[in-house]
Amino acid sequence: MLVASNRGPVSYEVLENGSLHAKRGGGGLVSGLSAIGPDTDAVWVCAALGDGDREAVRRTGGGLLPTEETGGQRVRMLDIDAAVFADAYNGIANSVLWFVHHMLYQTPLEPVFDAEFRRQWASYEAYNRAFAEALAEEAADGAAVLIQDYHLALAPRMLRRLRPDLRIGHFSHTPWAPPDYFRLLPDDIAAELLTGILGADRAAFLTRRWADAFTDCCHAVLGPGIPSGTRIGVHGLGADADFLRERAHRPDVTERMAVLRAEIGEGRRTIVRVDRTELSKNIVRGLLAYRQLLDDHPEWRERVVHLAFAYPSRQDLAVYRDYTAEVQRVAQEINSHYGTPGWTPVVLHVKDDFARSLAAYRLADVALVNPIRDGMNLVAKEVPVVSDEGCALVLSREAGAYEELGEDAIVVNPYDIGGTADALHAALGWAGGERAERSKRLAAAATALPPAQWFLDQLGALGR
Ligand code: F6P
Repeated sequence: MLVASNRGPVSYEVLENGSLHAKRGGGGLVSGLSAIGPDTDAVWVCAALGDGDREAVRRTGGGLLPTEETGGQRVRMLDIDAAVFADAYNGIANSVLWFVHHMLYQTPLEPVFDAEFRRQWASYEAYNRAFAEALAEEAADGAAVLIQDYHLALAPRMLRRLRPDLRIGHFSHTPWAPPDYFRLLPDDIAAELLTGILGADRAAFLTRRWADAFTDCCHAVLGPGIPSGTRIGVHGLGADADFLRERAHRPDVTERMAVLRAEIGEGRRTIVRVDRTELSKNIVRGLLAYRQLLDDHPEWRERVVHLAFAYPSRQDLAVYRDYTAEVQRVAQEINSHYGTPGWTPVVLHVKDDFARSLAAYRLADVALVNPIRDGMNLVAKEVPVVSDEGCALVLSREAGAYEELGEDAIVVNPYDIGGTADALHAALGWAGGERAERSKRLAAAATALPPAQWFLDQLGALGR
């Protein structure tokens, strides 16, 4: 069995003394794959993402990485030419495909399909080919191959041509754009993306809505639609309750809770959000809604603190850097306008600190999850599982998680700042009993398909 994804389960850093430090990643795929046990012969193929990763590949001669560094996982990292990687990852995947599937283009952020785009597209093809070739090399006869995400939309078809014996699955972790939006891509590119995925035996999505959008795009772009050889599936990845609850009670988390409690101040409510610094997460509108809450309901001033944590993401691209700066500017503006000597209305941290996020989850009275569009959004599922007292969830109807959590959340239109402010007001006002009850139901729905089962279901559906 093989898994392929852009980001692998481990990343390397070169230390000052020249040695390599391996850091293991988290996420649904990592815990899902660990479910098939330590004796597995599964190989994970991923890209080398930075200098440390490239050095690790060089030291292992391009073969499997030492398993003591990967948490037991057999991992093959591909050292794709740095310029090809940058074009494929920054240029096509995160500037074009991410924007299409999350419907993020708006003036002056317009799509540009010029000669530079075509050059980057050639790199996207080369990047996908590198994965397909490595998978073809590693796979035993009739092996199952699970290819992940929008970075690798062409790889299933390429791999099918190299190795018709394999059973291939593709899984999309993003939303899928509806045809009217998807078709802003040049026709040949739209067709290549769809036929690329249709090279798989099974194309799977996080929700029925994204699966249907994919099917609609196939009909609109390709005419005959889904070929009989490809099945469409839905697997709604859930939160990993056992891992989260155990991890959230370790000392590094309780230490951070003490720091946060001091930052929040005695007896105040907390609204928590945790995202990557990324436009689809809609952090700025969330802050503007919080500001409107303080305007419309001055009774909340001094009585609530908004913890907004953002992990830096895709900062090689100006559009993501500018967005991060805008988030910081708006938070700062709220603090200088409304803050008092004893009260900082927004505590914003732009840093990768999982223990601090878990500490915030435990303290949350309200979780704010308001993406413009999101494949699933695991934060919406994680906070109710971890929060000590139970939390209210303010949730965008455009997040995949809405399909499973909508009934017990306060649902918002992510563009509607006033509506989101009203939702925050309602959520803060929920009595303890109602909040705890709803939070319990949210946690149950959020953990219905834990990563291990999510993973096994996909394998099972491929006939394995
Ligand atoms: O949502 C799609 C996704 O690939 C997630 O699986 C992942 O959390 C995120 O995007 C990764 O982004 P990046 O690798 O660019 O930091």
